[in-house]
Amino acid sequence: MELDKKLEKLASRLRIRPIEWLDDGRVRWLDVRLIPWEEVYRETRDYRRLAKAIRDMEIRGAPAIGVAAALGLALAAFHSKASNVGELLKDLEEAANVLRETRPTAYNLFWAIDRVLERARRAASESSSVDDVRNAVIEEAKRIMLEDIEANIRMGEIGAKLIQDGDTILTHCNTGALATAGYGTALGVIRAAVEEGKRIRVIATETRPLLQGARLTVWELVKEGIDVTLITDNMVGYVMSKGLVDKVFVGADRITLDGYVANKIGTYTIAVLANRHGVPFYVVAPTSTIDPRLRGPSIPIEERDPDEVRTVVGKVVITVPEVRVLNPAFDVTPPELVTAIITERGIATKPYEKSIPRILGLKEDD
Ligand code: MRU
Repeated sequence: MELDKKLEKLASRLRIRPIEWLDDGRVRWLDVRLIPWEEVYRETRDYRRLAKAIRDMEIRGAPAIGVAAALGLALAAFHSKASNVGELLKDLEEAANVLRETRPTAYNLFWAIDRVLERARRAASESSSVDDVRNAVIEEAKRIMLEDIEANIRMGEIGAKLIQDGDTILTHCNTGALATAGYGTALGVIRAAVEEGKRIRVIATETRPLLQGARLTVWELVKEGIDVTLITDNMVGYVMSKGLVDKVFVGADRITLDGYVANKIGTYTIAVLANRHGVPFYVVAPTSTIDPRLRGPSIPIEERDPDEVRTVVGKVVITVPEVRVLNPAFDVTPPELVTAIITERGIATKPYEKSIPRILGLKEDD
C-alpha cells in the first residue's frame, strides 16, 4: 500500500499525531480539551461519536476538523451493513449530514466531506461491489490526512522564507500540530524557521474564551524548546506599541475568493493593531480552507455556548451566572489588512481577487 507507506514515513517526522486511522476500523485522537493538564487519547468505531468530538472541540482547528470529518465517513463506510452500493451511498449521505452539522465556520469540514462523497459516487459509477466503494472511501480519507501533513510541511518551507533570524512573532489561537493532521499551519511556519536554525521568539495570546493559545500553543512550543511568552488578548496593543512584535502569523478557518479571512475571535483586533503599528500580518492556510463560492465578509460565524464566556474553561464561574453573553467563535479580517496568505501552492498577495483564483487554478470570474 503506497499510501500507507507514505503516511507512515511522513508521520515519523511528526512529534505529535493528533488524529489517526487504525486499520481495524477505528479512529484515534488526542482530546485537546484536556491539554495541558492530561494527555488522553480516545478511540471510536462510530462516526456519530467522532461528530460529537468535533462539536465538543475534543478535535478542533480547521484542518483537523476536515481530516476528522473525512475519517468519520471512512468509519461510516467501514461499518456499514449495506448489501449493495446504493445502500452504502445512502449510509454515507446520512453520515455526511451528521458531520456537516458539527461546526459551521471551518471550510475544511465541508471541503473534506464533499471530496469523500464525490470519490464514493465515482467509485460507485465504476463498480457495483460494496467493498470497492468502501475501500475507495477509506483510501480517500487517508489521502486527505496525508495531504494535510504534506501541505503543512510545504507551507512551513514557503513561509519560513518570510522570517528573519531574531524575529519576534505574535500568533493567536492554536495553529500547530493540534489543529491539523500534524505539524501545523502558522505554527508550522514558525517550527520550520526554527528547524532552519533561525532564532525566533514567539508571543502567544491566551485566546479567550477557550484558551487555545495558553493551553495548546504554549504546550506545543514549550515541549519543543521554542522561546514563547504568553500574554492575555488585551495586551496585543501594548506589545506592538512597545515595538516588541516583528510579524504576526495566524491561521484561518475560511478564506473567501477575494481574501476575507475568518479566524479565531480576536484575529481582526490583532490585524487592526498590526496595521496601526506597521507590523506585517500573515495568514497561513492550506487551499482546502479557501471557499471558492464565497466573496465578501459574509462568512457563517459560529455562536457558542454562553457558559464558555461566563467561566474559565468551565472550571471557575467569573461573573453573575445569569448575565447575557455574546460568544462568536470567529471574526472576519478584511483583505486590506492582510499582508499575504501563505498556502501550500504559493503565496497570495493583493489584489486577492486575482491572486487567490490564480492559486486555485480558477479563472478570475469563476
Ligand atoms: O475554535 P477553534 O479552536 O477550532 O478555532 C481554531 C482557529 O481559529 C485556528 O486559528 C484555525 O482553525 C486555523 S488552525 C490551523
